[in-house]
Amino acid sequence: LDNGLMRTPPMGWLAWERYRCDIDCKYDPKNCISENLFIDMADRLFEDGWKELGYVYVNIDDCWSSMERDKDGRLQPDPNRFPGGIPRLARYLHDRGLKLGIYGDMGTHTCGGYPGTTLDKIEIDAQTFADWEVDMFKFDGCYSNALEQELSSNVKGFERNGPPHWLLMQLVNYTKLGQICNLWRNYGDIQDSWSSVLSIADWFFENQDVLAPAAGPGRWNDPDMLVIGDFGLSLEQSRSQMALWAIMAAPLFMSNDLRTISGEARSILQNKMIISINQDPLGIQGRRILKEKSGIEVFWRPLSDNASALVFFSRRTDMPYRYKTSLTKLNYTTGSYKVTDVYTGQTDVLKDSTDFVVSVNPTGVVMWYVSAPGKLRYHPILWLDALP
Ligand code: GLA
Repeated sequence: LDNGLMRTPPMGWLAWERYRCDIDCKYDPKNCISENLFIDMADRLFEDGWKELGYVYVNIDDCWSSMERDKDGRLQPDPNRFPGGIPRLARYLHDRGLKLGIYGDMGTHTCGGYPGTTLDKIEIDAQTFADWEVDMFKFDGCYSNALEQELSSNVKGFERNGPPHWLLMQLVNYTKLGQICNLWRNYGDIQDSWSSVLSIADWFFENQDVLAPAAGPGRWNDPDMLVIGDFGLSLEQSRSQMALWAIMAAPLFMSNDLRTISGEARSILQNKMIISINQDPLGIQGRRILKEKSGIEVFWRPLSDNASALVFFSRRTDMPYRYKTSLTKLNYTTGSYKVTDVYTGQTDVLKDSTDFVVSVNPTGVVMWYVSAPGKLRYHPILWLDALP
């Protein structure tokens, strides 16, 4: 959507995956969906170096509202959990250079059973959110009518709703989506597990020929939240999620506890080089370029300044795999390149035809920032675009 917003993928924090519909503020006051949770996360983003890196959105998801609209028909937050009201929370964030997101649903109810925004309520709810100075709105599709459901099921993926890959890809008009939304979820909900992360990545790369062209400044495919810092991913898998989400030009919404996050998870999420790859101004979504029988896969994303990113990913479950290749085999053709390992900071100069070996850990990645003059054989037109 060309509204001047989200020219690079949005970054921030989103409550859903980690905090779900926990409304038990009596017995779980630290984790329940309440203004305190969002204020705590805002403080962490502001004080712990996240904001400077671009993590500026603090997004409320489902279960924030009261079960009843107010006497004028407007949505209102649960009075016990949000005693200060949404405008005050928005002000708290804005005073710190942060932004507020909120959640609604185009059906009779949200997925969690809270009041929905049916067609007749769209105007009043939009006005309410605008009056509250909300910066971003997530519009879900549970409990909507046939037409709305078709749209939402198309957008949300087949896992819950049935249609197979090829049908789903034909039903959704991604060009149109990009004209009305800044980002859209294409697939089922992420869970705190490696199998969930892997199934999402697999779906996105299997459908890359349709999905990648749909993305660009102001319009992004959303493979869902980052679960780095939670319970389900190992260190290697956390690095893999970050690397693959950067290749995909994905929105980076963490859903974790920034109050207690480990140093290891933090350093992955705060890796400046990966963030700059994710935020590259060209906004070209990367692709899988090789799927080896060995279980090694190679991903590539073109970046500005004639640079690019490479990810070597291992689906193996045995031991670190020594993958031998050369830049020529990965479609690089014009001489020497400087490569920087984004996780170790090690640099090297490689001639395109020289064989090299990368050691890739099980379910892990090696990720490189490759800078060089010259062009790639792969997408000459993109590379012409990339020239200043
Ligand atoms: C759906 C969405 C999730 C979350 C929940 C809230 O499942 O896909 O991201 O918003 O609804 O109920």
